[in-house]
Amino acid sequence: MELVPLHSDFGAEVKGLDLFDAICDATAYSKIRAAFDEHSVLLWRKQNVTDDIQATFARAFGALERTKVGSSGHGSFYSRMNNLGPDGQLVSPSDRALLIAKANQLWHTDSSFKAWPAVASVLSARIIPSDGGQTEFVSTRAAWNRLDQASRDQLIDKVAIHSYATSRNQIDPAMMSEQEHAALPPVRKPLTWLNPVNGHRALYLAAHVGAIEGMDKHDGQALLARLMDEATQSEYRYSHTWEEGDVLLWDNRATMHRGRPWKGSEARSIVRVTISASDYDGVDQAVLGLAEQLTTA
Ligand code: OGA
Ligand code: MN
Repeated sequence: MELVPLHSDFGAEVKGLDLFDAICDATAYSKIRAAFDEHSVLLWRKQNVTDDIQATFARAFGALERTKVGSSGHGSFYSRMNNLGPDGQLVSPSDRALLIAKANQLWHTDSSFKAWPAVASVLSARIIPSDGGQTEFVSTRAAWNRLDQASRDQLIDKVAIHSYATSRNQIDPAMMSEQEHAALPPVRKPLTWLNPVNGHRALYLAAHVGAIEGMDKHDGQALLARLMDEATQSEYRYSHTWEEGDVLLWDNRATMHRGRPWKGSEARSIVRVTISASDYDGVDQAVLGLAEQLTTA
C-alpha cells in the first residue's frame, strides 16, 4: 500500500490496495483501517463503484447507518443526494433537493445530530458536473492541535448541543417536516472526540451545533463561530475535485466537510454510505456514554 498525501494536515490517496482488497482480505483491511485512523480522509481513484461494493466496503468498518426520516430512500443505507427527479431529469428550481444540497454546503460532520453519530462516511460521485461540485474537507484534529493549552483546558470537557434544525434553519426554517422535527430532537455530544486507537483528539464541530452546555447562549455561539472559523480557513482545506471512479472515506470524528456549488443546469449525483458509532470497535467512551443516555432516556 502506498499513501500519497492530499494536504499537509491530513488525507491520503491510497494506491496498491483498493476497496475490493479491503472487502476480501483481512490484512489489507487492517492496513486501510490504520491509514484511516491516522489520515482521516482516504481517497481511491478509478474504482469500479457500485452500490454493493460501496456498502460492503463500508460494512467492513462497522454497522451501517440507516438514512433518516425525510431522506430519499428512508431506512436504506444509501443516502442519495442529487438534483434529479425519478424521471432522471433535473428537478425544478423550487425542489427540496436543492435545499438539501445547499445545506450540505455548510461545514459539518455527518449525523452528529443523531443520538448515535456517524464514525465514518464513504462517498462516491456518480454524476459529476463539468465545473464546481467539489467536496471540501478540513481536519478538526489539526484544529484542536493548533489551540493553545488554555483553550484546550477550557474546551476539553464541554458538551455541545447538536440539532438537525440548527443547520437546516440557516438555509430555510420551513425546510424540515413535522415528522423530521419529531424524529430528530437535539442531542448532547462532547465538544472534543478522542480516537482511542491512537490517542488523537479532535474538535467535534458542525453546522448542527447551536449551543454549549452551561454557557450563556451568546457566549457559546460566539465561541462556536470562532472555532468554526479558525478550523475552516482556506489554507487548512483539501478540496476534492471529483473524477469518475473516485471514492472517499472520511472520519467524522476528526474532520468537517462541505459540498461546493455547481451550475444548476448540470446534474450532480452522489451516494453516501455511513458507518454508525453504535456498534463500532474503537469509539471514545465519552461519546458512547452520552448516546446511551439519550437512547435509554
Ligand atoms: C455528504 C456531503 C457534500 C457534497 O456526502 O455527506 O455532505 O455535496 N456531501 O459533496
Ligand atoms: Mn455530509
